[in-house]
Amino acid sequence: MTQTELLFKDPLAAAEQAAQEIATKTGVTHHDVALVMGSGWISAVDALGVPAFECNAEEFTGFFPPAVEGHSGKVRSYEIDSDGKKLRALVFLGRTHLYEGKGIEPVVHSVRTAVKAGCKVIILTNACGGINTSYSVGQPVLIRDHISLTAVSPLSGATFVDLTDLYSKRIREIVKREDSSLQEGVYVHWRGPTYETPAEILMMRTMGADLVGMSTVPEAIAAHALGAEVLGISLVTNAAAGVTGEKLNHEEVIAAGKAAADRMGALLKGVIPKLL
Ligand code: HPA
Repeated sequence: MTQTELLFKDPLAAAEQAAQEIATKTGVTHHDVALVMGSGWISAVDALGVPAFECNAEEFTGFFPPAVEGHSGKVRSYEIDSDGKKLRALVFLGRTHLYEGKGIEPVVHSVRTAVKAGCKVIILTNACGGINTSYSVGQPVLIRDHISLTAVSPLSGATFVDLTDLYSKRIREIVKREDSSLQEGVYVHWRGPTYETPAEILMMRTMGADLVGMSTVPEAIAAHALGAEVLGISLVTNAAAGVTGEKLNHEEVIAAGKAAADRMGALLKGVIPKLL
């Protein structure tokens, strides 16, 4: 069986295999926390210092090369030493999205691999459109809850997983103590690759949504189902369709991410040691 066949036939076995390969290549048997860096977030990770290890994700079982500009497709391992507490962070620079059409398994493979590598906390970052008109471009927002408009779950079978505390309240409180200006919001998962229409954004706002993006939700569900705690942070890179009347484009999403990278990096660096 090829590695790709394994990913679709037995995704947890593929994740286990990738985790073992990561342990062998990094020489670290156990990682504590994982970060998935979305569009525009890549340079935020520089705040964590010099990585102890880096390679292309596709060197590990079940990983595909990146399909999106702003997603580098690298895996890094960082040693984080804070006040004598030593942690290992596994960082995925980029992710696979549902809109790539590869199916759900590649979308959640990073987080499953991270949990199999020992991670108890998964930090999911993304770029998103701001539906809530009080948000500004460049503002980070903690995901409090989500609405899945794709209706695609990474789970199948009779696995009735509770999602009441999917975006861990414990972790959100810690992050808000680190930066009391942070707001929380409800994130809508939109399949893409088209951005939404103004009418769809109006529908989402009416449903109680604050943020819209094309990622994070399946990963959060897959991580939670395996017992990890999830933190989701969205960076508002543009006002959602119809809010300002401006057209949306990927370049502005990347540029807003780069402009906010220092703040996002400092936030991640400050908060990670407090989560475990
Ligand atoms: N919609 C969906 N996904 C996004 C957006 C948006 O406005 N901005 C960044 N990712």
